[in-house]
Amino acid sequence: MRAPPSAVAEDPTLRRSHVLIVDDEELYRRALERILVRCGYTITCARDASEALAVVSAEPVDLVLCDVRMPGISGLELVRQIHEVDADLPCIVMTGYDSVEHSIDALRAGAFWYLHKPFEGSLDVVRRLVEQAIEHRRLRTENRLLQNQLRSRYRFDNVVGQSAALRAVLDLVDKVADSDSTVLITGESGTGKELIARAIHYNSRRAERVLVSLNCGAIPEELLESELFGHVKGAFTNAVAHREGRFAAADGGTLFLDEIGDMSPNLQVKLLRVLQERSFEPVGSSKPMRVDVRVIAATNQNLEKAIRSGAFREDLFYRLNVIPIEVPPLRERKEDLPLLVQHFLDRLNPEKARKVEGVSAAALERMLEHDWPGNVRELENLIERMVVIRGEGVLDVSDLPAQFRRGAAASDATVPNLGPGGVDFNDVIDRLETKLILQALDRTGWNKNQAARLLGLNRTTLIEKIKKKGLESQAPVADPAAPPPFGVQ
Ligand SMILES: Nc1ncnc2c1ncn2[C@@H]1O[C@H](COP(=O)(O)OP(=O)(O)OP(=O)(O)O)[C@@H](O)[C@H]1O
Ligand SMILES: [Mg+2]
Repeated sequence: MRAPPSAVAEDPTLRRSHVLIVDDEELYRRALERILVRCGYTITCARDASEALAVVSAEPVDLVLCDVRMPGISGLELVRQIHEVDADLPCIVMTGYDSVEHSIDALRAGAFWYLHKPFEGSLDVVRRLVEQAIEHRRLRTENRLLQNQLRSRYRFDNVVGQSAALRAVLDLVDKVADSDSTVLITGESGTGKELIARAIHYNSRRAERVLVSLNCGAIPEELLESELFGHVKGAFTNAVAHREGRFAAADGGTLFLDEIGDMSPNLQVKLLRVLQERSFEPVGSSKPMRVDVRVIAATNQNLEKAIRSGAFREDLFYRLNVIPIEVPPLRERKEDLPLLVQHFLDRLNPEKARKVEGVSAAALERMLEHDWPGNVRELENLIERMVVIRGEGVLDVSDLPAQFRRGAAASDATVPNLGPGGVDFNDVIDRLETKLILQALDRTGWNKNQAARLLGLNRTTLIEKIKKKGLESQAPVADPAAPPPFGVQ
């Protein structure tokens, strides 16, 4: 005999599926009990609806089999009342052979299915139906669990950090998640833009619906259009069948368009149209499709620059930038670093079967001094590498890569080997200085105050050095016709 499927998603080995039989006729109760006990189910019998309701609210039940005609509350009413307590609990209603209407009413009342009485000749049907209903229950429970897990993975408490800068971002997410407004998330690579997009979706009214993601930078232009809008059969050489695009797939939910700055001007026009009209045409079709999709876009590019150089449409920018969210780089919120380190250790230890206990104060200090150009992703990858290699104990300075060890960065990377002919000391130092100054200026958009701070120089010293080295000529040319910077429109 086949073992019945278990209905307990948490631990399938611990409990047998529990079936509740409700019938005022003892004969039927006993007959059903005999059949189902033999299949390995745990059975409880009830004589009427009120006894049945008492059982359902007192203990976990996986399936209810109930007679339609009973004194007091009818079987159909019982199904409705049970679903008020547990909407996913499948109920099979037993009706007489003569009553087709009862069978239809049972389905209308929310029954999983119906069984005709008497069922002596169809015991296999009874067994199979019970098995199917319990499997259905198991899948529903499992599905709900997975959905909850997914949602809790992207609730705010999974966005780690206590800094004022990150809290400001999360406050904004909290305020806008529930609206249907388009959001544009900007920030350097690895700052957590996708994480924020997910937090918005899973805290929105659309949380129960899909979140569809598309990385616009990862797909060649010719394919991106059909990826976004789908295509009809024959639209181009390889279009052998109709294919749904991401906009259609996201209907009712959220579409996350990552690396939006990489989208070609041609597609930007089409995207603008969807945002304005909520409709689009699949490639090769002239029939517009309407969709209800919330768009969240992200980019690590400076769209202001891209607009000025003509690479990004200004009208699309304003359509996307209804709610701008800027995720700050890690170097501007270093107080989040210890929390992030702990968060990654907690996640990676079990994932990689390692037992790293923490990070030494000295190693943490070096990490706080680092600039983190790759932001949180760089930190995550570093912790993963150290956890895997170290395996246990406390991570120390010696576990960090060379550039984290004090003073090592510049020397390892730039000092030439002192060969037999020696070096021109002043020239080497001069070139090193120039490189560092240009790096600081580029990073800060030629803001000399910030650049001086990055270099640990005072502002006038920096300005003197820039003049002496003739570096002004390398500054980006300001465009007098440029629109005002972001955030002030
Ligand atoms: N505040 C945070 N708390 C926990 N994990 C974070 C946080 N920020 C980022 N991460 C993790 O860092 C990694 C990079 O984040 P994410 O992919 O969201 O960055 P991104 O800004 O989209 O990067 P890119 O610009 O390269 O696409 C992910 O694994 C993410 O889970
Ligand atoms: Mg991303």
